[in-house]
Amino acid sequence: MSLPEPRPQDLAKKVVAWQKISGRHHLPWQNTQDPYRVWLSEIMLQQTQVATVLGYYERFLERFPTVKDLAAAEQDEVMPYWAGLGYYARARNLHRCAREVVEKWDGCFPGNATDLATLPGIGRSTACAIAAFCFGERSPIMDGNVKRVFTRYFGIYGSTQKKAVENTLWAKADEVVKLAPASLDMAAYTQGLMDLGSQCCTRSKPTCSLCPLQSDCYAHSHQAQSELPSPKERIRQDERYTHVLIVELNGQVLLEQRPDKGIWGGLLTLPQFDDAISLQTAALHWSHEEAIALASFQHVFSHFKLHITPWLLHVNESTLAEPVAGQQWQDHEALEQTALPAPIRKLLLGLYQSNDSEQLLLS
Ligand code: ADE
Ligand code: SF4
Repeated sequence: MSLPEPRPQDLAKKVVAWQKISGRHHLPWQNTQDPYRVWLSEIMLQQTQVATVLGYYERFLERFPTVKDLAAAEQDEVMPYWAGLGYYARARNLHRCAREVVEKWDGCFPGNATDLATLPGIGRSTACAIAAFCFGERSPIMDGNVKRVFTRYFGIYGSTQKKAVENTLWAKADEVVKLAPASLDMAAYTQGLMDLGSQCCTRSKPTCSLCPLQSDCYAHSHQAQSELPSPKERIRQDERYTHVLIVELNGQVLLEQRPDKGIWGGLLTLPQFDDAISLQTAALHWSHEEAIALASFQHVFSHFKLHITPWLLHVNESTLAEPVAGQQWQDHEALEQTALPAPIRKLLLGLYQSNDSEQLLLS
């Protein structure tokens, strides 16, 4: 008996029928066609899980209920609402995008994927998702979830980061939508692909028995679920080292703004140095005492691991120099509300909430 073949002409119908019964229907960005809300959710969800996004999404919308409110704010007002979500270029593009919608599009997001994709931070798949959810446009998406479903269903091998594989996937996505009935519910189809990827066609151990595509899925019939999508070509994970200086003055700590480019771009953080000598040299600006090393810890980024060594320096009024450009004193109480990188926030709140900075000292 021959194995079943994938059936692109039936895929969309099956996904929609499954979505209506088994998909998610109560996420806060569903059941709205407001492009601002849909856009915000899609940007937050780009590299972040639904469970994490939920709280951020509500707080963000409470503070910035419309695209005009967001455009009217300064970037510095936006960052605290993003701090902890990571990938901060997204937040800066978000703000730039809001301004462009107000300035170029009269405060209304454009109504099709092609124009949406011209805006900062909106790639092809995100533009198509917004257009499908808000305007019912027959534009297919191709995010990480969909790549997993499609490589498995159609048996597409090769790293999905390769241009040729990516093109094949987009061509399949186009074909599926072209072959689907004219009445296809695009919002349900788009959401259905995402839901399938997160509920059935999961990275490890997909639950094919509950999947509407099982009867003609390549990976299922060939038992190839664990080899698709093909693994990325391994990139070496760099180890990087950095030193941060905690200058303490009467319940205040010295912070400085990171440059826009690079990690933690635009966030406030502790003064940061490549090595201990540069840090001690900078510490001389504040005190004749040496800064004291606290226990190092690690923070993992997508392509490198950062080893962070904090150093503590107490200063008093009599030795006080002025902060240099870009630096400021921040009250401990205000740290909770400050746009700090997640590991620095953890470090500082841990230090001040325990009220015993000595316990972190290396013995
Ligand atoms: N990931 C990206 N977009 C999503 C959505 N609309 N619902 C759930 N997860 C998503
Ligand atoms: Fe994924 Fe299994 Fe469904 Fe195929 S049958 S699409 S591998 S969940």
